[in-house]
Amino acid sequence: MKAIEWLGDRVKILDQTKLPHQEVYLELSDHHNIASAIVELKIRGAPAIGVVSAYTVALAALKLETSSREDFLTELRGIISTIAATRPTARNLFGAIDRMQKIAEANDTVEQIKAALVSEAVKIHSEETEATTKLSWLGAGLIRNGFTVMTHCNAGPLATAGYGTALGVIIQAKEQGKKLKVFATETRPLLQGARLTTWELKRFGIPVTLITDSMAGYFMSRGEVNCVIVGADRIAANGDTANKIGTYSLAVLAMENGVPFYVAAPTSTIDPSLASGDEIPIEQRSPEEVTHIQGVSIAPDGINVANPAFDVTPHRYITAIITERGIISEPYGEGLKRVAGNI
Ligand code: MRU
Repeated sequence: MKAIEWLGDRVKILDQTKLPHQEVYLELSDHHNIASAIVELKIRGAPAIGVVSAYTVALAALKLETSSREDFLTELRGIISTIAATRPTARNLFGAIDRMQKIAEANDTVEQIKAALVSEAVKIHSEETEATTKLSWLGAGLIRNGFTVMTHCNAGPLATAGYGTALGVIIQAKEQGKKLKVFATETRPLLQGARLTTWELKRFGIPVTLITDSMAGYFMSRGEVNCVIVGADRIAANGDTANKIGTYSLAVLAMENGVPFYVAAPTSTIDPSLASGDEIPIEQRSPEEVTHIQGVSIAPDGINVANPAFDVTPHRYITAIITERGIISEPYGEGLKRVAGNI
């Protein structure tokens, strides 16, 4: 199973909105269609969004017909801003498109720019895969034989176009022969935990129990959870971390119950330009995602709805951040600077 595959003149993605009951692959080449697929969460998870965005820039560039470098770069900027408008919280998206922009500007002719954009996108993909493999291996050292791990949203291979972050750590611990159990929170409103995390863990043969988000405290207070591991959409310079809505509540519950709370993310998710989580832009999504479940209305028509897609967990709740360049704990400012030095 590959969440993202580069086919030279198009990109193939596994439509995550159809899982777990249907495995439908889409082959896309038009940047407007890919931007819509990103907004609709057909492809999702910060690292996977970064990879697919890079391929989208390359695909759109290949189609540009002008031979004028200046016109080409102007059109490319328009394409990049369409992609940038899709998912505001995902740091990897902005990191990837910035790299694509810089590579374009560093080359002379249109043909050279096109070739450089394709190879940069392929490089971003392989770097993400390598980073998630490494951080999973490092993070697995924190997981002991017999642990029950709680995770939120989906941070597996589907979300990363690689090995996975939070789920990568769990999968690697299992590969090392450790016996584990997982509690997966369903992750309202879009149910990434219920639909995707359980599906991935089942495929890896890891015992998983699905719970609603509101059951997490019950199991933690009974001593049934040894640690919580989540992914991240953006990490500020001081360690404050944005992740799927509900992560902050889990972190507070974990601290209250003396349960270690780990964040697993590649360094491409770190945003050194933001001093704290207060500066992280939070995506607000449509009310229908809350009033409807899989197209079925569950609330009175016209009801007032709020739907922030992410929340910020202050760094004081985070026991450690697992990256491919090392595991960091307080003081996060120093540790993050060390691992994200050249980002
Ligand atoms: O809205 P989504 O499904 O894209 O949100 C995804 C998450 O919050 C993940 O936990 C995060 O991107 C880390 S994935 C490795």
